[in-house]
Amino acid sequence: MKVTAASVAALAAGAVAAPSNTTPRSPSKAAAACSSAVTLDASTNVFKKYKLHANTFYREEVNKAVEQITDATLKAQAAKVADVGSFLWLDNIANIAKFDPAVEDLPCEDILGLVIYDLPGRDCAAKASNGELKYNELDRYKTEYIDPIVAKIKANPNSAFALLIEPDSLPNLVTNADLSTCQESKTAYEEGVAYALKSLNLPNVVMYVDAGHGGWLGWDANLKPGAEELAKVYKNAGSPKQVRGYATNIAGWNAWDEEPGEFSDASDAKYNSCQNEKTYVTKFSAALKTAGFPNHAIVDTGRNAVTGLREEWGDWCNVKGAGFGVRPTADTGLELADAFVWGKPGGESDGTSDESATRYDSFCGKPDAYKPSPEAGEWNQAYFLDLLKNAKPQF
Ligand code: BGC
Repeated sequence: MKVTAASVAALAAGAVAAPSNTTPRSPSKAAAACSSAVTLDASTNVFKKYKLHANTFYREEVNKAVEQITDATLKAQAAKVADVGSFLWLDNIANIAKFDPAVEDLPCEDILGLVIYDLPGRDCAAKASNGELKYNELDRYKTEYIDPIVAKIKANPNSAFALLIEPDSLPNLVTNADLSTCQESKTAYEEGVAYALKSLNLPNVVMYVDAGHGGWLGWDANLKPGAEELAKVYKNAGSPKQVRGYATNIAGWNAWDEEPGEFSDASDAKYNSCQNEKTYVTKFSAALKTAGFPNHAIVDTGRNAVTGLREEWGDWCNVKGAGFGVRPTADTGLELADAFVWGKPGGESDGTSDESATRYDSFCGKPDAYKPSPEAGEWNQAYFLDLLKNAKPQF
């Protein structure tokens, strides 16, 4: 997860713990066999009823990784990662093709997590995840990306979907409005997200809009503008009822409830009262309520097991020494937090460390970033092994 405006640099972190839900479920009850239409009540926590699906794509990535491991203990541990539920990123038009195979083995008691991530001018404040659509290609976003996903979800009324809407996009409009790339993308982001929320407002869907993390919108000066930005887009979409709330720490590194917080010693810490994600969720939810936006959260704990790794709170690229965190669960201990989820599929890169690449971002060359790292989204076996070895709880 990218971060922030310069003044808005750091973020809270902490440790993770908590029991998790790794027991594999047999995909015996495949989607085709689910006999009735799913209706999700977005005024409730659907993760209490449904388990985040261990999708076939991450499963295959992990299985391939397992084949390469010779150490027997590590191999056995790695194999267990395949059973962890995670979000599947539909990160370009071509990858909408991942939808059908992912639904095929979806048990009736599971919910498929999908990341909607293809806005025009994507990743406007960084380079590593720049997308396929130019800032002025909003029509293509609507007709070639969102509409086909809507059609697929409609074609699978008996399956449940949790959608994570456009990581980093609205937070970038709040804190990086000074960048010409983010100015250029503003209309497409706001109209694109509104179009997504309106079009994907289907009975078998719940939606969470990305809201950065505590070190981003958690700064005192950002909480209110952040909440207002999300609320504005939501209202422009007609306040779709399947929007349940927001997502935090997606692809991020912050701990849930470390006290006083990983960056609480920083000189600017006094300007951020959200030094861990739990506090951020509590405070941002309150700001959202005032602004008129549904205020329940999901929080990415996929890679947040180890703290003290980042030089600065805003460092986001392939943080060296990170470990898999708490497995997806609806037992968060905070009513406002629906679930801990794995948002970023651990092992997939955040960005390339190859300085000559078009999408090279200097954050991926920082001393605390793992090198070598492939392009964003591509598998990094060595990094996966480190996540595994540093996992808390251990596999
Ligand atoms: C990349 C996407 C990828 C996602 C999950 C993002 O940083 O830009 O292409 O699907 O991470 O790994």
